[in-house]
Amino acid sequence: MKPWLAVAFIATSLLDSAHQFILSSENVAFRDHESKFLKDGTREVEYKIVTTWDSMLVMHAPVTIKFKPGVQGLVMEVNSLFFDDPPAPPGEPGKPFDGLWDYEVVESFFLNSTTSNYLEVELCPHGQHLVLRLSGGVCLEKGLELAFKADINWGNWNGTAIIPWEYFPPGIDKMNSYAIHGSGIGRMYEALYPIPREEITEGQGPNFHLLRYFRDFSLKDIMGEDWNQPPSDLWM
Ligand SMILES: *[C@@H]1O[C@H](CO)[C@@H](O)[C@H](O)[C@H]1NC(C)=O
Ligand SMILES: *[C@@H]1O[C@H](CO)[C@@H](O)[C@H](O)[C@H]1NC(C)=O
Repeated sequence: MKPWLAVAFIATSLLDSAHQFILSSENVAFRDHESKFLKDGTREVEYKIVTTWDSMLVMHAPVTIKFKPGVQGLVMEVNSLFFDDPPAPPGEPGKPFDGLWDYEVVESFFLNSTTSNYLEVELCPHGQHLVLRLSGGVCLEKGLELAFKADINWGNWNGTAIIPWEYFPPGIDKMNSYAIHGSGIGRMYEALYPIPREEITEGQGPNFHLLRYFRDFSLKDIMGEDWNQPPSDLWM
C-alpha cells in the first residue's frame, strides 16, 4: 500500500468508528444517562457528570451517580475520584452538616417543575450529608436525617444513601446533579445539566438553583410504570 493510501485508510476507519459511536449513542433514548433493566420493570439509571457548571468539559474521570429502586426510598450511589480538597468538614460522619456545600460534595436535586418544590441531597466522601427541602429557591427545612455511608479507597470514594420517599415533593419531573471540590481559585463546580455557554453573562458564577436548566426525570423509570410515589406528610 502506498503511504498516502494507508493514511486514507486509517482516516476512514477512524471516521467510521466515530460515526458508529454517534449512531449508537443516538439509539439510546437519552444521551445523558444509561439505564439497565433489573426485574419487574424496575431499572437502575446511571448519570455521568462530564461538564462544569458553565459547559466546559471536565478534565478527569467523571463523577457517576446511580439511582436504584429501594423499598424505603430511592437508593443513590455515588462513585468519584477522591480529591481530598477541601479537608473533611468538622462534623460526625453519618450526621447532617450545615454548610456542606463549602466542602467536597456530590449533590442531586429533585424537582416538581410546576410547584418549584424540590429536594436537595448533598453527600460528602467523609460521611456527612445535608438534605434540604426547598421551594422556588427558599429553604423550608434543612438537615433531615439520612441513611448514608461512604468509603474512601485509593484516591476514589463511593457512597450509598437511601432517600426516603416522603422527602420527595409529589410529582417529581425534573432533576439535576452536581459535584464540587477544590479550594480557592481551584474550586470546581460541575453540573450534569450545565448552563449553555451562550446564556452565560459576564461576571456570572455557579448557581445550582437555576431550576430552568433541570431536565426530565421520572421515578417511574426506576421504580416501574405501576409504581406510584407515596404521599408525603412533609410536603402537605
Ligand atoms: C463501595 O464500593 C464497594 C465496592 O463495590 C462496595 O463493596 C461498598 O459497599 C461500597 N460502599 C458504600 C458505602 O457504598
Ligand atoms: C407537581 O405538584 C402538583 C401539586 O402537588 C401536582 O398537581 C402536579 O401534578 C405535579 N407535577 C407533576 C409533573 O406531577
